[in-house]
Amino acid sequence: MTDGRHYETNPAANSKLGFLRKSLADIAICPPEAPRGLLGQHYVNDAYFSHEKETVLRQRWHCIGRSDELPDKGDYLTVTLLDEPIIVVNTKDGFKALSNLCRHRGMPLAKGRGNTKLFVCSYHAWSYQISGELQRAPRMENAGFDPKSCALPGFHCIEKFGFIYVSLADRPPDIEIDLAALSDKLWPYDPAAYRLVHAADEVWNTNWKCLVENFMEGYHLSVVHPKTLHGYTPTELSKKGPSASGFTSYTAHYPDHIPPRGRGSDRLKDSDRHGSYLFAVYPCQVASIAPSLLVSFSLLPRSAERVDVRWTISVYGNDLDDEAIHSRINLWKNVNREDREKLELMQKSLSSRYATSGPLAGEDYEGTVRDFLLWLATQDKAVS
Ligand code: FES
Ligand SMILES: [Fe+2]
Repeated sequence: MTDGRHYETNPAANSKLGFLRKSLADIAICPPEAPRGLLGQHYVNDAYFSHEKETVLRQRWHCIGRSDELPDKGDYLTVTLLDEPIIVVNTKDGFKALSNLCRHRGMPLAKGRGNTKLFVCSYHAWSYQISGELQRAPRMENAGFDPKSCALPGFHCIEKFGFIYVSLADRPPDIEIDLAALSDKLWPYDPAAYRLVHAADEVWNTNWKCLVENFMEGYHLSVVHPKTLHGYTPTELSKKGPSASGFTSYTAHYPDHIPPRGRGSDRLKDSDRHGSYLFAVYPCQVASIAPSLLVSFSLLPRSAERVDVRWTISVYGNDLDDEAIHSRINLWKNVNREDREKLELMQKSLSSRYATSGPLAGEDYEGTVRDFLLWLATQDKAVS
């Protein structure tokens, strides 16, 4: 494969899905000095999205939010993860992820967020403990009814870096192994100590992979964010960071004349205070951490061309006063608006037959995109 035209025709012998899987494998073997991106069809094709759901998305861990969003026993939030309605609840034994579906006839049990001692179904009043056991089923005296068989099914749920992660897989991968190098990198920031100051839910009309790629490359920073980001994280100071089986990363350095934007943890070195470290936890979390500010996006793919986005801002200690926090929240709202406009515009053109596999920029600018595509190819190969 030497240029994008290779992909302009769809070989009749292959199904569209087979063709797209083969194309991904071809892109993954491009030489490192000539990296290429995905085809438009990887971002718009429904069959390919269904394939990704089974082979990539359902198999992995998904960040649902910050653990300090649910500080007290009985605090819960609801989320739909890949068509699966879920309640994440703080129990006395830590966080649990439960199916948000009554075991009687399937009514959703909880909506939004709140605090409760019991989840009570709004249809026939079955009630469930926050651990998931059925507490009471009124008027159910039939001999064939076994309350123990009607507990809410659970999903794997863990806490790491101050985030809550949920997996739909029966046997999810070992996140400690996948993220070992990321843990080393984040340790100086003390990420679990950041406290939540802002959370928002949005719907973006883009493919989830476009959002991962956009967040993780510094190539667009100066072009798309001339007034919001270029001044302190210009494209030219982007530097590729470590990557491994579960993540990729880069550092957006500040120019020399920009002072550190907060002190943060005592574990940090002065050089750490002169940039923001951006990382993706595959497949669907992207985040930026700086000494005083942690911004994280949880991507919840709904279809090939739509993704629900939960994003949070957290701050470290008392580095930032209320006015500074307010100004950072506004900055990120503007940055997100700028990114979203671009991605939603691009999504509309990705169905074109000329949305072929384009060349990627070098390691420091789009090396993270290449990491992500190689990882996707590895996941796909694992199911062949
Ligand atoms: S559907 Fe929940 S009690 Fe009937
Ligand atoms: Fe951006």
